[in-house]
Amino acid sequence: MDSLINRRILLIDDTPAIHEDFRKILTPQTDNAGLDDLEAQLFGAPTRSRQQPFELDSAYGGEEGLNKVTQALAQQRPYALAFVDMRMPQGWDGVQTIERLWQADPRLQVVVCTAYSDYSWEDLLERLQGHDRLLILKKPFDNIEVQQMASTLTSKWEMTARALLQMHHLEDLVARRTADLERAGTALQQEIDERKQLENQLVQSEKLASLGQLAAGVAHEINNPIGFVASNLGSLGGYLQQIGQMLSAYRQSEEAIAAPEVRKRLQSLRESIDLDFLQEDIPLLIKESREGIGRVEQIVKDLKNFSRVDSDQQWQLADLQQGIDSTLNIVANEIKYKADLVKDFHELPPIECLPSQLNQVVMNLVVNAAQAIGPERGTITLRNGVDGEHVWLEVSDTGCGIDAQHLQKIFDPFFTTKPVGKGTGLGLSLSYGIVKKHGGQISVRSQPGVGSTFRVELPIRQVPQAAAGEVD
Ligand SMILES: Nc1ncnc2c1ncn2[C@@H]1O[C@H](COP(=O)(O)OP(=O)(O)O)[C@@H](O)[C@H]1O
Ligand SMILES: [Mg+2]
Repeated sequence: MDSLINRRILLIDDTPAIHEDFRKILTPQTDNAGLDDLEAQLFGAPTRSRQQPFELDSAYGGEEGLNKVTQALAQQRPYALAFVDMRMPQGWDGVQTIERLWQADPRLQVVVCTAYSDYSWEDLLERLQGHDRLLILKKPFDNIEVQQMASTLTSKWEMTARALLQMHHLEDLVARRTADLERAGTALQQEIDERKQLENQLVQSEKLASLGQLAAGVAHEINNPIGFVASNLGSLGGYLQQIGQMLSAYRQSEEAIAAPEVRKRLQSLRESIDLDFLQEDIPLLIKESREGIGRVEQIVKDLKNFSRVDSDQQWQLADLQQGIDSTLNIVANEIKYKADLVKDFHELPPIECLPSQLNQVVMNLVVNAAQAIGPERGTITLRNGVDGEHVWLEVSDTGCGIDAQHLQKIFDPFFTTKPVGKGTGLGLSLSYGIVKKHGGQISVRSQPGVGSTFRVELPIRQVPQAAAGEVD
């Protein structure tokens, strides 16, 4: 703060004698200092504290004064105070000079010295607009008045400078605090967002877990009856075929029946039940029933997978690319009439996973992509790659896209927009469960009418406890 002490004074006056007077008043001879020292030696302590001396510069006209002020500013040694003579016949008068000085250095305190004035004091103030930095000193002046003005106004300069510095300091502080607050606010918002996301994931996992248990029970219950219905349908088909053969044999021997009324009765009975049609239709009915049961079996299998009841698989290091390729082979038929397949594959490291479950994820995504494509032929694009500790797979389609209102629900079990018989609504929730089990992420970007992209990210290595805990 001491650097703010400023005792520099500039006197602007065209009369050299005035400069002499000021010098005597403001910078008395330094032998005083010697006297003080002597006094201190004699009496043991200084009798008065020595004030910082004034530093007085002289200019003999307004222009010269302005030069000194600008130079001093450039050297970062500004004047605190200027005494300016009002009447200077050559060049600028006092008022003009003061105007210029303040343009250069608005902080400068000014005393205007005048015997008689060309301006009234009111005019002067009006014109200079510097009421708070301007004092008037009437000639002839009193020494003590000059000294007091110099002391008071240089101190005023210092105090103003200090206040300004303090203000900057405060502004700085406020700016820093505001920035801190803003940072804290952003961090908080980030945390809230993360929590919300975690909460969503948790809700999703909870839903899956409770549904998993339910599904496991249902799958188990349905599995038996379905098993015997399927096998009975198989036997029934065989039996009916044999009966059909028998009926044909009877029919051939019909002519050999001697009693005409018996023959006639047989014939009219055959016509009334339309035996020909029955023989044609029965195998079709059996076939359809078997297909229906096949579909139910598939659903039960999905349910079981979904609830992980029979996941006796082992975690192993496997080639995900191989899984993708073989899965694509299996679903090739589903795709080939609907879409062109574009593959943008990169070399993947082996990853620690349950390979057949991941195949199912791929299968679900590709089948969904194919099903999203309408009557017009589309494109399904598969991309994969490595990103740090993860591998990723994206399945994009040029299909119908997903409505915003459905986006939140597509991973829910049994959510489907497909007609009964075509969609179970289990594919994505199953896939979600599998990907989570691998410690990965599944996400979707979609634009209705344009297409969708599903992205799966999987860690290359499992964190030990996650892997161990999740294997059923
Ligand atoms: N690639 C896709 N394009 C458009 N919609 C999709 C796509 N994948 C999934 N969906 C939507 O998500 C729903 C749920 O999918 P999923 O769980 O696989 O069940 P499902 O296919 O049996 O309906 C679908 O019914 C469909 O509305
Ligand atoms: Mg599906």
